Amino acid sequence: MDKYDKVFELAKNRGFIWPSFEIYGGASGFYDYGPMGATLKRKIEDAWRRLYCVGEGFYEIESPTIGVEAVFEASGHVGGFADPMTTCQNCKESFRADHVIKGEMEIPDGLKKEQLTEIIKKYGIKCPECGGPLGEVYDFNLMFQTWIGPGQKKKGYMRPETAQGMFVDFPRLLRFYREKLPFGVTQIGKSYRNEISPRQGVIRLREFTQAEAEVFVNPKDKSSHPNFEAVRDMVLPLYDEQSQLSGGQPIPMAIGEAVGKGIIANEYLAYYVALTHVFLTMVGIDPARLRFRQHMKTERAHYATDCWDAEVLLERFGWVEVVGIADRTDYDLTAHQRRSEVDMSVFVPFEKPMKVSRTIVTPNMAVIGPRYKGKAGKIMAALKAMPQSELSKPEVRLNIDGEEIIIESSLFEHKTVYEDVNGENVLAHVVEPSYGIDRILYSILEHAYHEEVVRGEERIVLKLARSVAPITAAVLPLLSKEPLTGKARKIALGLKDKGFMVEYDESGTIGRRYRRNDEVGTPFSITVDHETMEDDTVTIRDRDTMSQVRVPVKDLARVLGELLAS
Ligand code: GAP
Repeated sequence: MDKYDKVFELAKNRGFIWPSFEIYGGASGFYDYGPMGATLKRKIEDAWRRLYCVGEGFYEIESPTIGVEAVFEASGHVGGFADPMTTCQNCKESFRADHVIKGEMEIPDGLKKEQLTEIIKKYGIKCPECGGPLGEVYDFNLMFQTWIGPGQKKKGYMRPETAQGMFVDFPRLLRFYREKLPFGVTQIGKSYRNEISPRQGVIRLREFTQAEAEVFVNPKDKSSHPNFEAVRDMVLPLYDEQSQLSGGQPIPMAIGEAVGKGIIANEYLAYYVALTHVFLTMVGIDPARLRFRQHMKTERAHYATDCWDAEVLLERFGWVEVVGIADRTDYDLTAHQRRSEVDMSVFVPFEKPMKVSRTIVTPNMAVIGPRYKGKAGKIMAALKAMPQSELSKPEVRLNIDGEEIIIESSLFEHKTVYEDVNGENVLAHVVEPSYGIDRILYSILEHAYHEEVVRGEERIVLKLARSVAPITAAVLPLLSKEPLTGKARKIALGLKDKGFMVEYDESGTIGRRYRRNDEVGTPFSITVDHETMEDDTVTIRDRDTMSQVRVPVKDLARVLGELLAS
């Protein structure tokens, strides 16, 4: 058993993660969260909300998980959200063509389907399942398609990212945020991708949860984030494009220095790289197994100018992307503006009004009158009805009573005026930190998983961060007998009333109950023993050090609160 097997075994047995539809044989790419897993997931999401919704002030919205076709045509997903696929002509299994080839030889990312087909043919790459011949490589769109309403008139797609819901709401969001940039909006919810033969367990799912923030910013302000000073000196392991090309390692570098040297495109992007480090380490990712890798030009999404992935080191899978932080520029708003014909621009006032010169062109009766006798009145009326843009052209063509008349601009009067302009209309740029909650959850479990030998006995312990552990404290009577059980139940109820996530447990020996709680990562076990009945004190056992302190029951909630905050 490797680490993944061990963690997954524990996750199944202790109610964290279960294969979906198990009684019907399951389906790859789908997993259920059991009681411990769903609670852990909710706590991770709540920690994310505390950082992004409360801290950054980005309100959360909720849009449908099914989208109408126009949304994904505009976004480019209908045309381009595809993986190169090949099917075995013998066993009919389908595979991602680039993955199968990479199992045999090194190839660069981003090769076209024709190039992949050529490699398969030239090097005789065979089906990894049965050794049969592989067919032509074709594009397989990863979106799940459906029909909205009866019949097949209105096509819909399950969203492949939560982001589009926020882009299409942009005009309403802009109004909500009082027509001012920058502002941010977030969404936590399910996304769907019909991944080709997902073989990476809980890492590559067909239904998964994303937590995404879309930060809309004036393109001219991207180089200065208002809170950048707070993160400027944070040193992070940055694996930039240059280091990757030269076969180097990630370089620990202050985030401010990385922006100064042009390694990260702008302060906005860098700020969210730093915030991602804060979040991931806060919820329990080991900082020694975390790095930020810049996308190579060849692998960048069609919309991104610069993109950094937070990658976590997992024993079986190596470095795995858990968060993508991208500068999506105005790609999305431009695309939706073009397709919907709804104005997505924002009026951005200048700091102080700018003087702008403008030439006003006026038809002059004193010149036109004598030249076009008899028709001058009609010509003047036609010219006065024309916009300035037409009058500014070198010549103007008119049709007066069926006759074409060409009037040169030199016959008009040109006057330069100076005006105050207060601002301009811009399309906002989007900086997007996009988190995959499921991958983060599994990574937390793997990094928290420890096997230890204590007094000759092996114990498995999940050293989860206190803030995300599903159960905060277990209340355990030393023996499953009255009066200890009654007293322990009363203590558990008192703590629940104060908002603590507490579990009362009386089944099995005290040793087994400690072990069970160690395996679900419960940070504290509170034991009610004979002494409790005499002096109203209990012991609090620390999951990681296994040390115990005695505390009066009346102080228990306060002490527990302090321990959680420490
Ligand atoms: N809106 C941008 C976007 O969706 P992405 O890099 O495709 O970007 C963001 O996805 C995150 O979502 C990834 O870093 C990853 O954690 C998670 N994710 C993407 N595809 C996934 C899959 N098939 N299974 C589980 N998580 C996935």
